[in-house]
Amino acid sequence: MKKATSLICIAAFCAVSAQAQVKTPVSAEKAKMNAFVSQLMAKMTVDEKIGQLNLVTGGEATTGTAVSTGVEKKLASGQIGGIFSLTTPGRVRKAQEIAVKNSRLHIPLIFGQDVIHGYKTSFPIPLALACSWDLDLIQRTARMAAVEASADGINWTFSPMVDISRDARWGRIAESSGEDTYLGSQIAKVMVKGYQGDDLKKANTIMACVKHFALYGAAESGRDYNTTDMSLDRMYNEYFPPYKAAVDAGAGSVMASFNDINGVPATANKWLLNDVLRKQWGFNGFVVSDYTGVSEMIDHGLGDLQKVSELALKAGTEMDMVSEGYLTTLKKSMQQGKVTIAEINNACRLILEAKYKLGLFEDPYRYCSEERAQKEILTPENLKFSREVATQSFVLLKNQGNVLPLKKSGTVAVIGPLADSRANMPGTWAVNADLANTPSLLEGIKGVAGKDVKIIHSFGANLTSDATLQKNATMFGREIPRDNRPENDVIEEAVNTAKKADVVLAALGESSEMSGESSSRTDIEIPAVQKRLLAALLKTGKPVVLVLFTGRPLAIKWESENVPAILNVWFGGSQAAYAIADVLFGNVNPSGKLSVTFPQNVGQVPLYYSHKNTGRPLTPNGWFSKFRSGYLDVSNDPLYPFGFGLSYTTFSYSDVKLSAASLKPGQAITAKVTVTNNGKVEGKEVVQLYTRDLVGSSTRPVKELKGFRKISLKPGESKEVSFSITEDDLKFYNQQLKYVAEPGDFKVFIGPNSRDVKENKFTLLSK
Ligand code: BGC
Repeated sequence: MKKATSLICIAAFCAVSAQAQVKTPVSAEKAKMNAFVSQLMAKMTVDEKIGQLNLVTGGEATTGTAVSTGVEKKLASGQIGGIFSLTTPGRVRKAQEIAVKNSRLHIPLIFGQDVIHGYKTSFPIPLALACSWDLDLIQRTARMAAVEASADGINWTFSPMVDISRDARWGRIAESSGEDTYLGSQIAKVMVKGYQGDDLKKANTIMACVKHFALYGAAESGRDYNTTDMSLDRMYNEYFPPYKAAVDAGAGSVMASFNDINGVPATANKWLLNDVLRKQWGFNGFVVSDYTGVSEMIDHGLGDLQKVSELALKAGTEMDMVSEGYLTTLKKSMQQGKVTIAEINNACRLILEAKYKLGLFEDPYRYCSEERAQKEILTPENLKFSREVATQSFVLLKNQGNVLPLKKSGTVAVIGPLADSRANMPGTWAVNADLANTPSLLEGIKGVAGKDVKIIHSFGANLTSDATLQKNATMFGREIPRDNRPENDVIEEAVNTAKKADVVLAALGESSEMSGESSSRTDIEIPAVQKRLLAALLKTGKPVVLVLFTGRPLAIKWESENVPAILNVWFGGSQAAYAIADVLFGNVNPSGKLSVTFPQNVGQVPLYYSHKNTGRPLTPNGWFSKFRSGYLDVSNDPLYPFGFGLSYTTFSYSDVKLSAASLKPGQAITAKVTVTNNGKVEGKEVVQLYTRDLVGSSTRPVKELKGFRKISLKPGESKEVSFSITEDDLKFYNQQLKYVAEPGDFKVFIGPNSRDVKENKFTLLSK
């Protein structure tokens, strides 16, 4: 099988799998690259080879305690392969010049950066972007980010982050596409395509780095950097597919995760990096550790710096981010016979190949154009697109009595600690976002409401009563001011403002750094002081809209029961403020659908729709029942299910029609519904298809997303939406890790979210 594939590769331009988007070098090109790299490596000393494996920071924006030092000197002596967090064409050019002109073999550097959800023009945080369920839109965000970043000197991004995330306590859920394997895999693919385009050598494409491999999102108790222990069944069926999808799409690099996996940290996990990633998935790029991921294995308890560096290299981590374990110990390990020159050569080759693929040997300065930086970053078109994207990411959770959309007249009170904070708008991991071009919500409302709306404002409450917690949750220049008067006085002032208004917008929730890296929470409610403010605002009897800022699913049961309207706006990027106003005033009809389940309370976490049934399930919609799988104090239901989101119109679904009662292997069956817009405004709907494998050789989830379509319907309009289901769609990894579809009965569900579905049934026949 392997042989056949490589034979096919000989034919020019046909070496790419159906999904791969990056032009994998065809054999002639590959031979040219191999020859080039071999010639270069023949001239390299062991020290120079090890130098290529060393990734340092530009000395700013770091995420650990270590900071790279002596960078200039190391550059000139060939001890550095790449730099990250160094931007602007001038600074990048300067560093590149030192490497290219002063080092003995003139090898160019690769320049990395965390371009996560946009660059200077920032887009919604990934968890929010996923709520658009719009793959084309998502791909265009990655493309635009690549254009801006590459215009500023960057040729390698530490994105996409494709960790399946089901634990709302984990702060980095904000950086993920949420809980679902299928949605996450589709997004992983288009992000890679968006960054890498169809040719990595172009000056406006950048190399993707899929992270964090692997299972980082399943850290125990939602605590960052914590241990993961997982069955192969769950790994292969639920957590691995998005990484694999990104690799299949041609991602040039992979980042090993910080966490321990079944006893071995990912950075030194040979099974993970060698057997799964390279042998099973055919990955041919390079693996970089996460920030000091190599030296952190000392604390994991695997040995001293020399030992952990040896383990990481041997496992298949080619590049060492910031630890300098490779730089300082590998030669010694080689001399002691602990690592081989072949292992060092292999790592060096993969990194040089990446540079070759990026065209850096042809022109090391291709990403250093001042002119492009002036012209292509933060353009009005980019900002306009960012605004459009943000409108697609918001999720309308409640709209009792059609409080929304707002009238474009009367008085609107904008209240809350997040109402007038520019710094808070782009969201976590937006290190390059340009805050000067990021209006606060208040500014956005003023810009969009029109002359007939009077806007009044009050601060209302601090982010949290606890000043230390606030400090820790507003780092990296994302400060939110504090009002040090007694809390009740601040609330009272806001109540007085609310009393003068026709409607109140309560801008509450999390600060942007309350989620993200190292921002796990055990309490996932809106901070108590903000809730007190909300209760006081509701008491005025004015209609209140909760404009909810958050980077994770929050437990907002009380709010869902007491506040008439809730618009979840996450963190929407550079133009979020205008986008929120667009939706609040009805210029855009909301259509976002949750990429992650909202629990009733933190005790239910992790809560996700595609769970297993257990042998003692509760009856559907059931409450407590003795000796059934549930809780004494809360039902098993989510507060808002995966896929949920309202619109200013309503849609109805017909029954699910199947083209046949059985599916023959090799053929397809079609599932159809008719969706109708029953309201008075045009709206978009995400029609979702789920299946359930009723009997299997392993236990199977109660529902699995298998497809979706985003459609637009005018008032009164109906559209038929059909999905083709094949045997491939029903495959899973069985206990022998064979990817199979097992004959038998399946349910098929279609609906507006994972809960409110219509169903039908078919049988998969044997071959
Ligand atoms: C994070 C990565 C990031 C890296 C470099 C780490 O702390 O886990 O996601 O890419 O820092 O900034």
